[in-house]
Amino acid sequence: MNKKVIIIGGEGNGGVIAACIEDNRKRFGDLEWEVAGFVNDYETQVCGYPVLGGTDDVQELLKNPDYHFMWGIHMIGRNILTEKTFRKVNIPRERFATIVHKTAFVADSAVLEPGVFVMSNCYVGAQARLGQCSLMMANSLVGHNTTVGPLCHFSVGSITSSYITIGLCSDVTLGAKVIEKVKIGDFAVAGAGSLVTHNIPDYEIHVGTPAKFMKRVRED
Ligand SMILES: CC(C)(COP(=O)(O)OP(=O)(O)OC[C@H]1O[C@@H](n2cnc3c(N)ncnc32)[C@H](O)[C@@H]1OP(=O)(O)O)[C@@H](O)C(=O)NCCC(=O)NCCS
Repeated sequence: MNKKVIIIGGEGNGGVIAACIEDNRKRFGDLEWEVAGFVNDYETQVCGYPVLGGTDDVQELLKNPDYHFMWGIHMIGRNILTEKTFRKVNIPRERFATIVHKTAFVADSAVLEPGVFVMSNCYVGAQARLGQCSLMMANSLVGHNTTVGPLCHFSVGSITSSYITIGLCSDVTLGAKVIEKVKIGDFAVAGAGSLVTHNIPDYEIHVGTPAKFMKRVRED
């Protein structure tokens, strides 16, 4: 009860994670987690919570065994940088929280690795696996037997069907749909509103219905 979580990021994804924790506490009486504050390199407060340090201070914060962490940094189209920052802060797996909104459905046989976030009205099907620190935003769906790598991000209203494999730090963005058995590589993006019917190779952004190559992700 009341385990302390520090959210790494800003008001975008980080604010959503904080709002989920607050809603679970206030509306559903689930007091497992409480937000202790944020880690942010630019602000002194995020969504009214104190910033306890920057990414360079994470190793110091880890010395307090009461703190758990949630990863909220995700830069769509620039995720090589997201992953680099993640590796820099170097948080042990067991120090991540796993946060699931009370209205989400997660099948018993699904696996959520440490640091996973599942927002309101999401669906995670049977035998699905979500990799470390992957984020599911509201109303996003991941079908049965789909395997998702670490640091992936599912935007609001996206639908990822079954038997899909997604690599490291990739995106299924706003309202995108991914048809079953497709493979999405590392640092890849299914653009907003797209219908993905073919594999998306590493580092590529695909858009449209059916989705076609648009460009490569930024590497800076
Ligand atoms: C795919 C994506 C990353 C491209 O972003 P971008 O590189 O900034 O692209 P731009 O906005 O500069 O658009 C370039 C062109 O592609 C078009 N385009 C952009 N995204 C498109 C999409 N998803 N489908 C079709 N066309 C698209 C634009 O209309 C523009 O066309 P124009 O040159 O004829 O005007 C972006 O559209 C996207 O999907 N973002 C994700 C949004 C999201 O999920 N946010 C999180 C919310 S939880």
